[in-house]
Amino acid sequence: MTFKEQIDKERIPRHVAVIMDGNGRWAKSKGEDRIFGHQNGVDSVDQVSEAAGEIGVKYLTLYAFSTENWNRPEAEVDALMGLLVDAIKNNVRKMMKNNVRLLVIGDINRLPQMTREKLQDAMSETGQNTGLNLVLALSYSSRWEILNATKKIAQSVKEGKIQIEDIDETLFSDNLTTVGIPDPDLLIRTSGELRISNFLMWQLSYSELYFTDICWPEFKKEPFFEAIVDYQKRERRFGKTSEQIVK
Ligand code: IPE
Ligand code: IPE
Ligand code: MG
Repeated sequence: MTFKEQIDKERIPRHVAVIMDGNGRWAKSKGEDRIFGHQNGVDSVDQVSEAAGEIGVKYLTLYAFSTENWNRPEAEVDALMGLLVDAIKNNVRKMMKNNVRLLVIGDINRLPQMTREKLQDAMSETGQNTGLNLVLALSYSSRWEILNATKKIAQSVKEGKIQIEDIDETLFSDNLTTVGIPDPDLLIRTSGELRISNFLMWQLSYSELYFTDICWPEFKKEPFFEAIVDYQKRERRFGKTSEQIVK
């Protein structure tokens, strides 16, 4: 049986977040340069988005570029930005056909103007679609996002719009860039690295974590479905005892 056939359709995670890692090492293992790895990673983005849509995942968040990634060599940063523009250009039609809505989280003001414009066009074009929400994390880091939220909330208190007592989890979440997006049920990280790397630290509080040694350019539909099957074997207790969970 394929992993896809093993999936329980009644228990599909609503939100899957992915740290797409290992492009550089994958390329190096083939004697190629890092950019070759990024180029090959684009196909995995297509495949995994399609796979998520096929099984009815509502939100797929892909960590495509972190705040810290700005510190990479300029040629690599430029190549990544170029790939992003191409990927959007090549995919808007497919997103319309597959009813996919594109969203972006992160500090998009830091992106090159061309990239930002292409993203904004694609977001408005796909804005009414009701299938999969494809969330790209770009120039994103969790500490940046949490600091930003803190500043916005402090400003509202200063202006007398809210009281300190009004600050609760809901209000805090509403000031993050993920406002309106449910917390991830499942986080996947590829390439064998066992860390969060400044990704969605508030939102991942109760997510199930799944790590695989497969590098991102080789992470296609079946490895994604395998992660879903693994997720479905787990019991999410949210601090309660097993007996308290209604099965
Ligand atoms: C992930 O692959 C892509 C980005 C972070 C943009 P890496 O480029 O981090 O690949 P490794 O981890 O060096 O192999
Ligand atoms: C995390 O990968 C960021 C993205 C996948 C975009 P990195 O490869 O940048 O993470 P570290 O530096 O190894 O933690
Ligand atoms: Mg990496």
